[in-house]
This record gives sequence, C-alpha cells and structure tokens, in this order.
Amino acid sequence: MTTLTVLPSGKTYDATTGATLLKALLDAGEPIAHKCDGKAECGACHLFVQEGRKSLSKIQRTENEKLDSIVGVGSKSRLACQAVLGEEPVTVELLGFV
Ligand code: FES
Repeated sequence: MTTLTVLPSGKTYDATTGATLLKALLDAGEPIAHKCDGKAECGACHLFVQEGRKSLSKIQRTENEKLDSIVGVGSKSRLACQAVLGEEPVTVELLGFV
C-alpha cells in the first residue's frame, strides 16, 4: 500500500502498489475522465504529478506519444491510466480542463 494525495482537494487515500493512478483515483471516487478506458488513446486522464514522480512507472512510448499531442502538457504530466503506483507516496493534481 501507499498513499495518494489528490489536489486541489487535498484528500488523501490509501492506494494499492501496482495499480494505475487511474484505478486508484476511480476507486477513491475522484472525478477523472477516462474516455478510452485506459488505452493511452484519449488523453482525458492527463494530470500533473506534484510529488512522488520517481515512485511511478516510467513513461513508455505510447504514453509519451499521446502526451506530445495534448495541449498544456508540462514536465509533471502523466496519463493516469499509464502510471503505475510504486511504494512511495504520490501527490497528483487533477486538471480542471479535462
Ligand atoms: S484513459 Fe484515455 S488516455 Fe488514459
């Protein structure tokens, strides 16, 4: 287990190591769009990882290519459906424009 903190609400949840950020957020009842159901195709699950980036799985080619096509992407950007939780606590920021 690890800890997932969600901004801007600041709520904290227990999250399962090995689960995607998308699954952890949905299980927690957080509103995150996921139009392609986690296939790295829609980009709707784009969020910013504010802390704990190193705990997450590395960005793979499909995620990188999708991120390249999204407006507003920054160095903290991840697709929640592609980022898998590790052991360290993670803080993510949900984006209002998804
Ligand atoms: S749910 Fe579509 S890219 Fe993540």
